[in-house]
Amino acid sequence: MRNLMVAGNWKMNGDSTMTSELVDEIAAGYVGSDSCELLICPPFPLLGLAANKIQGTSIFLGAQNLSEYNSGAYTGEVSALMLTDAGCQYVIIGHSERRAIMRETNEMIRKKFYAAIDNNLIPILCVGETLEQKEQQLTMEIIEQQLKSVIGDNAASLTNAVIAYEPVWAIGTGLTATPEEAQSIHHFIRGIISSISQEIADNIQILYGGSVNGGNAKGLFSMPDIDGGLIGGASLTASDFLSIVKATNK
Ligand code: PGA
Repeated sequence: MRNLMVAGNWKMNGDSTMTSELVDEIAAGYVGSDSCELLICPPFPLLGLAANKIQGTSIFLGAQNLSEYNSGAYTGEVSALMLTDAGCQYVIIGHSERRAIMRETNEMIRKKFYAAIDNNLIPILCVGETLEQKEQQLTMEIIEQQLKSVIGDNAASLTNAVIAYEPVWAIGTGLTATPEEAQSIHHFIRGIISSISQEIADNIQILYGGSVNGGNAKGLFSMPDIDGGLIGGASLTASDFLSIVKATNK
């Protein structure tokens, strides 16, 4: 049985005051009976503070990106080892904003994915189509390419990984895929993995992301192949984030 997960992607938002307050509020509202795993992904400079604040709670910590390299002359980059040292267990890889704005290619994302795995960080691999690709009915082709370019036929690399399906047209736009639309893509993703390993397909968490809020979360999370959400905007306010957490409860 897969656990549900709710992960907050703070993007380039927050400062130390906001981090202290938000983590306290989330920790206070996240009770033992909540049936999901909870993860926050603040920007790099706030990771150390967030790691201190979550001590003694069951909240996990993740970063939003990492370098494909382990150390050396890569000015401005942050390695997997630095992230584990800062207290991270997870790292988001291949978010569509990094693919589009920072021009990350499938090949770069593949290297980052294995840099995470090799250093015991759990990658959250983001896949998803743009509006243009959706309109051209290329959704499945694009997602299969994004996934296969990272895992190849090596489903074992997904033993300790999470996938996030984030349709680009739904991110930060207020538009969300319907639960049925999202379910069909999640089912497709699980199917690709099951063609390599049924066991890994059965166990891997596949999160949905894109304008998830307290109102639409329950419908999405009730779908059999949707194992929680990757939350952007609504992860910056404790009450909004917690209302999504509560939507995972039966
Ligand atoms: P959003 O962002 O919830 O603000 O749409 C999701 C994401 O980019 O991970």
